[in-house]
Amino acid sequence: MYKSLKELQIHCLNCTKCELCKTRKNVVLGVGNEESQIMFVGEGPGEKEDLTGEPFVGRAGKLLDKMLEYVDLSREKNIYIANIVKCRPPKNRDPFDTEQEACIDWLRNQILLIRPRLVVCLGRVAARRIIKNDFKITKEHGILYKKGNIFFMATFHPSALLRSPQNKPAAFEDFLKIKEKIENMTMNSKV
Ligand code: URA
Ligand code: SF4
Repeated sequence: MYKSLKELQIHCLNCTKCELCKTRKNVVLGVGNEESQIMFVGEGPGEKEDLTGEPFVGRAGKLLDKMLEYVDLSREKNIYIANIVKCRPPKNRDPFDTEQEACIDWLRNQILLIRPRLVVCLGRVAARRIIKNDFKITKEHGILYKKGNIFFMATFHPSALLRSPQNKPAAFEDFLKIKEKIENMTMNSKV
């Protein structure tokens, strides 16, 4: 267990636990408010993320930011965003199971340090790794699961929404549910 995200970062930025370290330009650890009650988890960095070291800064990231804004959430203010793997898989292929397994401890430690109340998985890879291994986004998006003290939900990956915009209304419903859930939890903890 690390004492702080700063300490975790020092180790993670030097990680060579899987082959992705050989082709990466930057390790993409995460971004956002470290005190957040909500964490979003994507799959892995793409080209632009690899170049800049920040998650979700490409086209999919722009769409994600727009959807977040709709429910008054932002990486500058009240959420934290990370990925299942911290280094870019070549040509943006899905990260292999072996790579996900090698990397998942970083995310586990991020969750232990940030202590979010809700973790939102963006897309199939994150949902299958975090919620259950046969997760079906089209059927099971928007459902709240609870493990220990943390709620989990998965929604469509913003890249998938760019390819299939017909799913955008359903994704917006999920975002409204996220907002509502976090507001209810905040209210309950104040009384
Ligand atoms: N897609 C992801 O899953 N994560 C990113 O950081 C960027 C694109
Ligand atoms: Fe380490 Fe994860 Fe990068 Fe692999 S993807 S080298 S496990 S930080």
